[in-house]
Amino acid sequence: MINKKDVAFNKSYWDGFYKHNFKHTPSQFCVSVLTELDDKAVIVELGSGNGRDSLYFASQGHMTIALDLSHEAINSCEAEAVKRHVDHSYFVQADLTSQQQLKGIIEKARSKAKNTPLTFYSRFVMHSLDDNQEQTLLAILADNIQEGEKIYFEFRSQEDADLDKHFGGHYRRYVDTDLFFSRLKNGGFEIEYQIIGQGMAKYKEEDPFVARIIAKKS
Ligand SMILES: C[S@@+](CC[C@H](N)C(=O)[O-])C[C@H]1O[C@@H](n2cnc3c(N)ncnc32)[C@H](O)[C@@H]1O
Repeated sequence: MINKKDVAFNKSYWDGFYKHNFKHTPSQFCVSVLTELDDKAVIVELGSGNGRDSLYFASQGHMTIALDLSHEAINSCEAEAVKRHVDHSYFVQADLTSQQQLKGIIEKARSKAKNTPLTFYSRFVMHSLDDNQEQTLLAILADNIQEGEKIYFEFRSQEDADLDKHFGGHYRRYVDTDLFFSRLKNGGFEIEYQIIGQGMAKYKEEDPFVARIIAKKS
């Protein structure tokens, strides 16, 4: 596990990872979120990887706008969207901790969604960010998510720190969920649902401790 945070190194790790066509099977979290979405919900995915979840949201009729730091991941999203004849998903290479880039993408999503509120979604990304990046992102979200809109998160929590991992060689930070909740609340979010535990993101020999959170801008 790499403790040192270096955005360029992180980007090159994810570029290498997604060059090898990681599977497009949707995550369990994506499927659980889908069961409760309004039919017309428009999804903004922060850190989409190869689009496994964005494309699954799109396959269920949801317009999706997704961003990722890795251009290889975005290439994979776009190629898969063409292969599946999906014409209502949009993928952008961007850094979600850049206020200018993220604000621009949210504005683009609002113009495509017309009057439909946006639903934000971010899976297994918070633990890829360092603490400063987490604070920057939450501040951007606090300023740009509108009243009544929701964000769904899943990420590795502190309880996961000592468990063995299937994939190594990249930065991970085990998120302090109490601090995360207080930052969300300070940004004007209400925590609608939270759970921390195992059995929600099992992958091969790994059964990580993850936090799932639904937060609503109030
Ligand atoms: C573990 S992968 C998760 C991908 C996908 N959400 C999933 O569940 O399969 C973490 C993703 O976060 C992206 N990421 C890390 N830092 C980022 C940043 N600053 N801006 C945008 N994406 C970032 C990486 O490129 C990578 O695709």
